[in-house]
Amino acid sequence: MKIGSLNLRSRPVMLAPMENITDAPYRAICRQHGADMVFTEFIASEGLCRQIDKSRLKGVFLPKERPLGIQIFGHDPENMAQAAAIMETLEPDVIDLNFGCPVKKVVAKGGGAALLKDLPLMEKIARSVVQAVSLPVTAKTRLGWDHQSVNATENALRLQDAGISMVTMHGRTRSQMYKGKADWDAIGRITEHPDWQIPLTGNGDISSAQNAKNVLEKYPVDGIMVGRAAMGYPWIFSEIREMLDNETAPSSPSIHSRVEVCREYLTLSIPAKGEQRAIFETRKHYKNFFRDIYGFKPYRIKLYNSLCINEIHNILDEIKERLHTPDPIT
Ligand SMILES: Cc1cc2nc3c(=O)[nH]c(=O)nc-3n(C[C@H](O)[C@H](O)[C@H](O)COP(=O)(O)O)c2cc1C
Repeated sequence: MKIGSLNLRSRPVMLAPMENITDAPYRAICRQHGADMVFTEFIASEGLCRQIDKSRLKGVFLPKERPLGIQIFGHDPENMAQAAAIMETLEPDVIDLNFGCPVKKVVAKGGGAALLKDLPLMEKIARSVVQAVSLPVTAKTRLGWDHQSVNATENALRLQDAGISMVTMHGRTRSQMYKGKADWDAIGRITEHPDWQIPLTGNGDISSAQNAKNVLEKYPVDGIMVGRAAMGYPWIFSEIREMLDNETAPSSPSIHSRVEVCREYLTLSIPAKGEQRAIFETRKHYKNFFRDIYGFKPYRIKLYNSLCINEIHNILDEIKERLHTPDPIT
């Protein structure tokens, strides 16, 4: 698949942008586990234009994360163009525009999914960003504002007209937030339009390797993007790849691999965040890193209570020695 000048494998499997989850260390780990491309969480264009350090830092990434997209959001075409130009100086592979975030604080200011109610403005923003940067620009959006106003195909075609190089369509409306089922038929219909030309990535409810395979067999999308199923579970990408390439059903990641992912997350986090914040932010992942491991709970409590990196490594050693992956279901 080609996103402008960027070459990816055919039908790539990408890590979806997720606020407070897909930070640089986590993205790097997902790449190591087979994600074909990763995206930063959304970054406010206003913060970037006002040169707020916290916003700019969200765009910083490690070389091993490539190919990577930096995602920005906002409602003003000029601000968005300026923010994209600022992020372009970090040299990501693409700039991604968020036209789908459903949360109130974003929508109330006219950004994210609010633009689903004003497609001409969405198109104008996309056009102004495309003109402001030389990198490929992609966009991630939803089916429409609500069930009565689904406008996915018109939306995608307008983005294509504006010069967007790939559209990611999450198969829900804004009103659904994250509830109900993603409507993949509606995603697939976009590709049936005679004028549709650019790559389309489908997103929503890909929860397992088998499910990813089914979606790719049934729908003519160019790629897929995985969000919640990748939270604390980077193995989803290797599992999907194994299933697609070799039809191999996944087995539970080994204790060794889970412990190494924890260590890697901590190690990659320390230079960027400092030791204490790295320890603190790793806590949210422990439960998922050790999902389905019988006997993990007491270790989880120890990991949560520890403020010392050496102690955490010792607890992880103990986990490696004492715990076991669940037996495969026969
Ligand atoms: C905690 C969380 C944070 C998210 N943050 C973003 C974001 O910053 N930008 C974005 O485009 N989508 C964001 N999303 C939406 C996901 O990228 C994705 O579209 C959605 O979760 C549906 O995919 P899934 O069913 O695979 O999770 C977020 C979702 C979650 C659960």
